[in-house]
Amino acid sequence: MKSYHLTTFGCQMNEHDSERMKGMLESIGYAEAPDREGADLILFNTCSIREKADNRLVGHLGEAKRLKTEDPERVIGIGGCWSQSMKEQVFELFPFVDVAFGPGQVHKLAEFLTSDSLTAQGYFEFEGFTGHLPMKREREFQAWVQISVGCNCACSYCIVPSTRGREVSRPSGEILAEVERLAADGVREVTLLGQNVCSYGRDLPKGAKTSFAELLSSVDAIDGLERIRYTSPHPKDIREDVIRAHAELASVCEHIHLPLQSGSSRVLKAMRRTYNQERYLDRVATIRDLVPDCAVTTDIIVGFPGETDADFEETMEVVEQVRYDSAFTFVFSPRRGTLAAELEGQLPHPVKRERMDRLVGAVQRHATDRAQRFVGRTMEVLVEGPSRTDPAKLRGRTRHNKTINFAGVAAPGELTEVEVTSATSTTLAGEERLLARLG
Ligand code: SAH
Ligand code: SF4
Ligand code: F3S
Repeated sequence: MKSYHLTTFGCQMNEHDSERMKGMLESIGYAEAPDREGADLILFNTCSIREKADNRLVGHLGEAKRLKTEDPERVIGIGGCWSQSMKEQVFELFPFVDVAFGPGQVHKLAEFLTSDSLTAQGYFEFEGFTGHLPMKREREFQAWVQISVGCNCACSYCIVPSTRGREVSRPSGEILAEVERLAADGVREVTLLGQNVCSYGRDLPKGAKTSFAELLSSVDAIDGLERIRYTSPHPKDIREDVIRAHAELASVCEHIHLPLQSGSSRVLKAMRRTYNQERYLDRVATIRDLVPDCAVTTDIIVGFPGETDADFEETMEVVEQVRYDSAFTFVFSPRRGTLAAELEGQLPHPVKRERMDRLVGAVQRHATDRAQRFVGRTMEVLVEGPSRTDPAKLRGRTRHNKTINFAGVAAPGELTEVEVTSATSTTLAGEERLLARLG
């Protein structure tokens, strides 16, 4: 039997694509190897969102090259966004690579492996969904579900539209059938994936059109499923019906990840985000109004070309107003082929660093403050396994997407009630309500 080793970089889309790659490989007789040395096929599912992601990969490729030299029969494969973005150069720069493919042609990997092709092959068309491939789920009780591929936005800093192509929605019937299968298989929580979930369905043919809010409602109706999450909504497209779903549909969790990117309307325009500060804050006001306890999280970029001190202060102001439950913060990274990489006014590193430090300070302060509202409350927790810091304890996640470490007896995959005793910016601590379990 042949064996493979797969390393995954990047976002949830890639994690999910990797589950499909594994399922596909196992369906053609490959078994997972514990390390690269022991693998006949060494695979990377790559990301290119920021420069750091590129640099990390190149280090790993060095090891793959060495292993290939030791045993030339080994096959080296590179999939994912970085591979797609390097399609012109990949074989020239890394001649030890046998097969390279983008996120749109994951299925071609199996074709390559089962052919007698001896020459390097590249597959970079945008053909469709990995959702059609068998899946080897990484987590028993939680699952990713792809609802669309690609992105029709043109955010000037972002490489994704070029690596994942135009947006294509998956027919809702297919999505629901998949979620039903997952729920029947014991999955309690699904995360619906798309680059811009709120534009879901617009491209579907007349008669088959389904809005994202309608999709949420149909998924919510599926028996056995307890929690629905999704990522990401775009502030330009999120409507009241979707926000309302968080209040009205039992399984839709009290958490919305609403990427801000910048609080300055001027910078947002240069980013081509097509909303301004006012509209963003208006969306947040609707969330606070309809789902008062909802956790709101975000993505923010600092140091976009031309970002002035005043622009940055506007970002800080939005952070002060919204009081995020948590935020991913990124230093702008120029990406090949994007408009923003060519803009004048690229900022020196120390300026970006200083802004980042201030932003992270504010984000952490609010995250800590906001988390205190959970202390003293009893919350529903989906148990994930033993705590990472103290194996005598359990780890789980609340509906607000907070990780919680707690003393208790519940098994992974169970939903249980946990009394929250303390909170930091990132995690909660608590004790399982054993009496509640008995009663
Ligand atoms: N489609 C999703 C996000 C995809 S990328 C959305 O629009 O919400 C995840 C995050 O990476 C983005 O939200 C953005 O904050 C960050 N990002 C993307 N390109 C970047 C770049 N060139 N430099 C720094 N951060 C970037
Ligand atoms: Fe990138 Fe913007 Fe599309 Fe998100 S919405 S993937 S940031 S282009
Ligand atoms: Fe995801 Fe990275 Fe591609 S963040 S969409 S794997 S560039």
